[in-house]
Formats: sequence, C-alpha cells, structure tokens
Amino acid sequence: MALAEFLAELDDLLTGAKTAFDKAPDEAALESARIEFLGAKSGRLKSVQKSLGSIDKSDKPAAGKHFNEVKQAIEAAFDAAVGRLAGRRGESDAPGEFDLTLPGRRPRLGHLHPITQTIEDLKEIMGRLGFSVAEGPEIEDEWHNFEALNIPREHPARDPLENFYLATAGAAAGTSKDDRPLLLRSQTSTVQIRVMERTKPPVRIISLGRVYRPDPADATHYPMFHQIEGLLVDQHVTMADLKSVLRLFAMSYFGGEVHIRFRPSFFPFTEPSVEVDMQWHDRWIEMGGAGMVDPNVLRAVGYDPEQVTGFAFGLGVERVCARRHQVTDIREFYKNDVRFLEQF
Ligand code: DAH
Repeated sequence: MALAEFLAELDDLLTGAKTAFDKAPDEAALESARIEFLGAKSGRLKSVQKSLGSIDKSDKPAAGKHFNEVKQAIEAAFDAAVGRLAGRRGESDAPGEFDLTLPGRRPRLGHLHPITQTIEDLKEIMGRLGFSVAEGPEIEDEWHNFEALNIPREHPARDPLENFYLATAGAAAGTSKDDRPLLLRSQTSTVQIRVMERTKPPVRIISLGRVYRPDPADATHYPMFHQIEGLLVDQHVTMADLKSVLRLFAMSYFGGEVHIRFRPSFFPFTEPSVEVDMQWHDRWIEMGGAGMVDPNVLRAVGYDPEQVTGFAFGLGVERVCARRHQVTDIREFYKNDVRFLEQF
C-alpha cells in the first residue's frame, strides 16, 4: 500500500471515530462505537494496522508514527465521551435517576481585586490599633478639599489643571444659586475635615478611598488611585505616637521588622510635616506624607489647638500593595487582565 493512501485512511478513521464518539447519545451507543473503531479483534483501527505490513520499508517509520498519533487521538476522544456521559448522569433530573452519592460540582468563585484586598487588610490592621473607618464623598467642594485644610487660593495644588473640576450645571449656566465649584477629591484628607466637623475630640479614624488627579498614567501614576488617611486628635498627642502607629502598621502589613524614617517636608495641613519612608528587605521606600495637624486646621473645624493636638498621615494604597507583591507597574491593577489578577 502507498504511504499517502495509508495516511489518508488513518485520517478518515480519526474523523469517523471522533464523530461517532461525540454523537453517542448514551453508554450503549458509545460501547458499540468503541467496538467498531477500537475493537481488539476486528475493530477498524486494527484492520488499518494490519495494512502497515504492506507499506514500503523506507516509509514504515513515518507510517508507524502517524498510526500511533491517530490511535492516541481516537483513544482520547473515547475517554472524553466517557467523561461527557458520566457527567450527564448526575445532571438528569428524571426522578430516581439522580445519583445522590456523586460529589457536588464546586462553583468557580472569583475573588476580590488586589486593591480591595489591600484596603480590607489595612482596615483590619488599623482597626486593631483602635481606628474606626470613616467615609467621605468623592465629589467635593473647595472648602473640604482645600480651604479647611489650610490650602489658600493661590496654592499651586489648587490649579485647575491639577484637578478634575466638574462642569456643574449651575456654575456653567450661572443660573443656580448653588454655583460652588465642585471637584473630584484630590486627596482623602477631605475626610479629616468632614469627621472633625461632626464629632468632638478625641478622634481616631482612618479613611480609605479613591482620589483623582489629572496625571498621565505611567508605572507609578494613575489618574485615579487610592489613599489611606489616618487622623488621631486627643490631648497630648505627639509625633512619637505618629511614628509608633506607622511602625506597627507597617510591621503588620509587610510582616517582620520594618523601620520607619521621617524626612522633613511641607504640607499646608500639618506642622511640622514629614515624608514617611519604610525600610523593608533592605530598601527604603517612600510611603506618603504625615505630620502634626496644623492649628489652623483644628481652628477651621472649631477645635481648640490649646486643648488638643493630633497627627495625620496619608499613604498610597497602590504603592503599599505593589511593594508587598513586587508589582512594578501600577497600571497592571487597572487593566482587568485576569491572568494578572488571578495571582492574588
Ligand atoms: N494629602 C497628602 C497628599 O495627597 C498626603 C498627606 C500628607 C496626608 C500629610 C496627610 C498628611 O494626612 O498629614 O499628598
């Protein structure tokens, strides 16, 4: 027999077997298809195998190789059909046919996004340190985003190009009485003000949420990201308390020994202000800002800076999450690529 003819015969056989196995409506039909194609004595595969003897010697290796491939493929198709029919058995809802002894089919569950997981972790850790969770709106007015935080009108952070101001209907038309400019909050520090406005000291809160800035996206920036804000106001609060809390927080989140370093800095709402670095696995990394709440801020919410002091801090959630999981580009968090997200 010529090689080409032999190969063609094998391919036909494979197609025929696959169709027969895939279409078999029940076990009896599958069994007769098995005998037809894979039967040990007179199955069709067997008879093709016999003609292997009549192939030219030089073509034999190629013919034998293809024969084995087809044999394996036919057997795999048979196994798949067995699995298909077995699976269907449990599904039948005809009374009496339901097999109670079959194990249940486990639903495939998704899981929380890594940033949401981080937020949950941070709430947990800070909760153990006695901080409760406060929330504030993502659409803010200039009082809460700037004014009360001691950020004056001429401050560069208030530049319209640095913020997402909303084209509010009233402001645009000049008709509404309420034409206060509104913006997407650029920091969670807004929540400090909202909480202090409605509560008397002592205050011990964190707030986690989205903030928005018109930054072009790159490995470390995204126009929307998350911050964790902390605020503690009470009598006799000092910078040592701030450092202890941040250190305990970092050690719980990262695990093991983490060192905290303060570098002098400036924020309008804290005095003194610091930039917070954490050392983990022999590297210093910037985590965010912190400081002692500026007396002007305490006054803006009706607190008496002679009676109470406080500390505040603001850290980037993406940054701590990326650091812990060695993610080098925060854009990955927002591509919704399941192959990336599955890993958390
Ligand atoms: N709001 C600051 C920012 O977005 C971060 C910050 C710095 C928050 C110092 C604070 C603070 O509470 O005390 O860059």
